[in-house]
Amino acid sequence: MKDRRRRNAVVSWSALFWCTLLLVFSTIIFTTLIFSPFITTFSHPFKWIKTTTTNSRATITIRETVILPDQALIFLNYPPSFRLYTKHDLSCVYFSPDDDSSSRGVTQPPIQLHLARLREQIVRCTLPPRGGTVSLLIKSNGVVIPRQDSSGSTHEWTPLVYDALFDRDNTTVAFVKGLNLRPEKLMEPSRFQCIYGWDFTKPKFLLKSDVVSAAQEIIRCKTPKSILIGKAQAQDIKVTIHAKDMGVFPSIARPGLRLQHTTPKQKAHEMCICTMLRNQAGFMKEWVMYHAKIGVQRWFIYDNNSDDDIENVISFLQSVGYNISQHLWPWVKTQEAGFAHCALQARSSCDWVGFIDVDEFFNVKIKGGMHGVIWHHAKPGSNVGEIRTPCYSFGPSGLREVPKEGVAVGYTCRLAARERHKSIVRPEALNQSLINVVHHFHLGAPFVTVDVEKSEMMINHYKYQVWKVFKEKFYRRVATYVADWQEEQNVGSRDRVPGLGTKPVEPADWANRFCEVRDNGLRNWVLRNLEDRRTRLLPWQSEFEHHLRKRRRRKEKKPFMIQPLF
Ligand SMILES: *[C@@H]1O[C@H](CO)[C@@H](O)[C@H](O)[C@H]1NC(C)=O
Ligand SMILES: *[C@@H]1O[C@H](CO)[C@@H](O)[C@H](O)[C@H]1NC(C)=O
Ligand SMILES: *[C@@H]1O[C@H](CO)[C@@H](O)[C@H](O)[C@H]1NC(C)=O
Ligand SMILES: *[C@@H]1O[C@H](CO)[C@@H](O)[C@H](O)[C@H]1NC(C)=O
Repeated sequence: MKDRRRRNAVVSWSALFWCTLLLVFSTIIFTTLIFSPFITTFSHPFKWIKTTTTNSRATITIRETVILPDQALIFLNYPPSFRLYTKHDLSCVYFSPDDDSSSRGVTQPPIQLHLARLREQIVRCTLPPRGGTVSLLIKSNGVVIPRQDSSGSTHEWTPLVYDALFDRDNTTVAFVKGLNLRPEKLMEPSRFQCIYGWDFTKPKFLLKSDVVSAAQEIIRCKTPKSILIGKAQAQDIKVTIHAKDMGVFPSIARPGLRLQHTTPKQKAHEMCICTMLRNQAGFMKEWVMYHAKIGVQRWFIYDNNSDDDIENVISFLQSVGYNISQHLWPWVKTQEAGFAHCALQARSSCDWVGFIDVDEFFNVKIKGGMHGVIWHHAKPGSNVGEIRTPCYSFGPSGLREVPKEGVAVGYTCRLAARERHKSIVRPEALNQSLINVVHHFHLGAPFVTVDVEKSEMMINHYKYQVWKVFKEKFYRRVATYVADWQEEQNVGSRDRVPGLGTKPVEPADWANRFCEVRDNGLRNWVLRNLEDRRTRLLPWQSEFEHHLRKRRRRKEKKPFMIQPLF
């Protein structure tokens, strides 16, 4: 363990010269790089790295901490050439406010560690005690990771500017919590201003710019020229907003990501999917493989703090050829903003983007899969910007155990009435406000929306699965989606089950509920097109992988990825 520190030190020597130079330079800019003084008041068994002004840039630091309602996010910053730590190298360490020599600083393993951008990680920890603080400890040497500087402070979740990006039209898109703007309403832009800088408490080094549009949780503003030109320095710059009557918001948003300026004539993919999920790893394989078969080419997974096996499932899917990526989206009640973020990410490579959940399956009934539907409704040159698809909710279909062939083959009985629709949108057609509600976006002129008939395409929503599965959803809803339940209460009273409102107790007839129409359509299609003739297995079943490995060992290597049918 000492070994690693020494190795790091050796690497640092070569970089030291440049770091020192950079530091002298940045000291001039920042004026002060102070170290939080409270640290010295603790006495505990951990070592604090002595950050003298000459080497503070060459060590791993905590850039910011955000306290969410149920966990803390710690943003770590690595100097160049440092080895990245894994979840197992670090501990969350807690200090209570009334700390004195008797307190040792409780430690706990992190919930999860995520790679953010280059040389950055986000570590998720359980919440510190009320009034206390959380930090990170390097297990091998007992060192507590220092805060970067006075801006590396701890933020409450709201108000906060939590993310931002530079858009291709040279505007900055800032994602803001705490504005409390009404849904679907454009606000007067002059009520807001964007502010760029490193430390918003130092008015000297701030740049201001005008806002172009403001709606929901998204403020779009002009990026100042000096930032557009000075790429290198802009890497670290933060953006925040000033709102009339509300003042300057705290911010952790560094819009380092620059969306491509030029969009290629021919995009890499015709059809992509954005989804936001939490703990759905068990359902991902079927959902991705099935959609690949009907013509989806790219998946953007916005992960809302999963603590299941999702990393492994995604790496597996990547390893067998699916173009799928995971983006941490830990923010609370920000689905609309997350979809807008995803639409911008997808714009340069996707003609169309579907916004559906992992328990929803596009069920195409005409020739040509997704391509056929798009071709039919939005021929090249047409001004269709959104295709709306009706959804139908499936029930447990008499099952009591999770169907091992997957949901599409397992669940075959549904409600007769349709739910609200879901949309496939053309990211080029989005309104610059990026307004969206319940899965559909406002479009910019001259784009229009079309509806598809259910005889052409519908969404099979496996909403009420076997009790074991549904129960989890229930717990999650009670905790966080209370409003959803209430919403559904109004939509159809059949959704509500006596006793379900307050207690997760299985109703005696659960297995047979929500069953009005037998619908074997997708089941038959999947069996016909995806079942392995010899083994009778579907490619997402775990036995299939096993079988494939055996077959591979015998024969030559065969690509595993399911080829689209069309
Ligand atoms: C964005 O800014 C860059 C640098 O100032 C400039 O070259 C480019 O033309 C601008 N693009 C747009 C769409 O305004
Ligand atoms: C996945 O898609 C992106 C565009 O969305 C593309 O840049 C990338 O090369 C693709 N990756 C693979 C492995 O095909
Ligand atoms: C993500 O999960 C948290 C619970 O940890 C919940 O409060 C939040 O609303 C979820 N975010 C979204 C965008 O659904
Ligand atoms: C964007 O949406 C707003 C309100 O939804 C509308 O007033 C405006 O005209 C739209 N912008 C364009 C370019 O169509």
